[in-house]
Amino acid sequence: MTDSVSSVYDPIQRALHWIVGLLFLTAIVVALVDDLPGDRAVHIQIVNFHKSLGLTVLALGIVRLAYRFVKAPPDYPASFDRRARLAASTSHWLLYALIVIVPVTGGLATLLLGRPLPWFGLSIPSPLAADEALGKLIGKTHKLLAYPVYIAVVAHIGATFWHEFVKKDGSLARMLPRRAKVASAAE
Ligand code: HEM
Ligand code: HEM
Repeated sequence: MTDSVSSVYDPIQRALHWIVGLLFLTAIVVALVDDLPGDRAVHIQIVNFHKSLGLTVLALGIVRLAYRFVKAPPDYPASFDRRARLAASTSHWLLYALIVIVPVTGGLATLLLGRPLPWFGLSIPSPLAADEALGKLIGKTHKLLAYPVYIAVVAHIGATFWHEFVKKDGSLARMLPRRAKVASAAE
């Protein structure tokens, strides 16, 4: 029989994962409901809220990514074979890329269209010369990136549930806010 090993993300990694993840999901939901109200003023308020959430994701996402290089994640559970490790690390790096690229495209589009960046009531003026054509192009790219975002998020959450309820390999516990024992090669 093999001993179980304690192998969890550290508290900072866990906190940043859940804060950035929840803000990211909220930004998506807010973007999806912003077309619902007929009133233009309400629509603008909702889009500004989306932008504020997105800019917060960008700032915390950069902190999270920097910390990722300082502190490596825990080893995968021993039950993860080579293919599972490759799938997990590829999808995690894709998520990190989206956490940075998606808000950058949203923010750049806003600035190039000559608009200030809203952040929860504050207004950050654009330091860039307006370029409407480029702003529109980057804005379109932002909207197109929504599709890989949906796929990556559904795959990520789906994979977590699959590991938790089908494979029962304890990988969710690695990210939960408590120390947890993760099944080792004994599983
Ligand atoms: C977590 C980061 C972000 C995510 C996941 C995200 C995601 C999305 C999604 C899913 C849409 C809807 C696309 C569609 O309806 O076709 C959208 C629209 C939009 N986003 Fe973002 N976004 C983020 C950050 C930002 C930022 C930082 C800005 C600008 C500062 C921004 C500006 C916009 C604008 C202007 C729209 C179009 C809204 C409309 O006209 O209906 N986004 N975003
Ligand atoms: C209900 C939603 C979510 C659940 C249940 C969840 C669960 C998890 C779990 C269990 C892990 C650890 C995987 C492992 O064992 O190695 C993880 C890692 C990760 N998650 Fe999530 N997640 C959620 C939402 C999100 C969202 C929305 C994002 C993107 C914004 C995200 C980005 C990441 C990234 C980048 C990692 C890799 C961390 C690293 O190794 O540095 N997660 N997630």
